[in-house]
Amino acid sequence: MNCQNKCPAIRVVMFPKDTNPSGNIFGGVILSNIDIAAGVAARAVTHHRTVTVCMKEVIFNRPVKVGDILTFWADVIKTGRTSVTIRVKVEAERRGEVIPVTEGEAIFVAVDQEDRPIPLDSPLGTQGGDGKSPDPTSPQPAETKPVAGDACAVPQPKAKKDKKKKSKKKEKRNKKK
Ligand SMILES: CC(C)(COP(=O)(O)OP(=O)(O)OC[C@H]1O[C@@H](n2cnc3c(N)ncnc32)[C@H](O)[C@@H]1OP(=O)(O)O)[C@@H](O)C(=O)NCCC(=O)NCCS
Repeated sequence: MNCQNKCPAIRVVMFPKDTNPSGNIFGGVILSNIDIAAGVAARAVTHHRTVTVCMKEVIFNRPVKVGDILTFWADVIKTGRTSVTIRVKVEAERRGEVIPVTEGEAIFVAVDQEDRPIPLDSPLGTQGGDGKSPDPTSPQPAETKPVAGDACAVPQPKAKKDKKKKSKKKEKRNKKK
């Protein structure tokens, strides 16, 4: 294979464990590798973590056999605000012959730490969504309570109330005296 002008996203050898009951390679194995190859291509477009939102028009043109070396070519064909569309073509190398076997498209979306879409070219650490407030539907961090001996324990408002009550009681006692 000549890799001078362009490199494939991934290359994989097909093993007997990858077969379906009829002995050919299971389509799901190829789909999963298309997903991986598209993910590799998406990394050239954004530094953010990406997730697959859609795989479409995957066509299995020819069967894949045990021992085939599959080459996954992945090209970015479209970029949106948060999404990138990648076309993947799969070739099988078999006994010196190169056979185009499968092709398809995958769409990836850049997401922030809370899995919300985020612009592809935004700086790392930016929040997705409206970029300001956290998604109200996402789980909120549990309320932290101070633990004895915890250096990070924050004084609680309740403690202040107790102090006020105590000083009022003291005032009353002094008045009686
Ligand atoms: C990907 C995900 C974050 C998108 O969330 P969302 O609320 O639909 O986001 P939005 O509607 O803002 O769309 C974000 C982008 O995704 C694109 N998009 C959303 N659904 C799409 C679909 N069904 N087909 C194609 N593109 C789609 C939108 O066009 C948009 O692209 P743009 O910003 O470039 O215009 C959400 O669907 C998700 O978390 N899915 C699960 C992903 C995952 O776990 N994948 C692994 C396999 S399980």
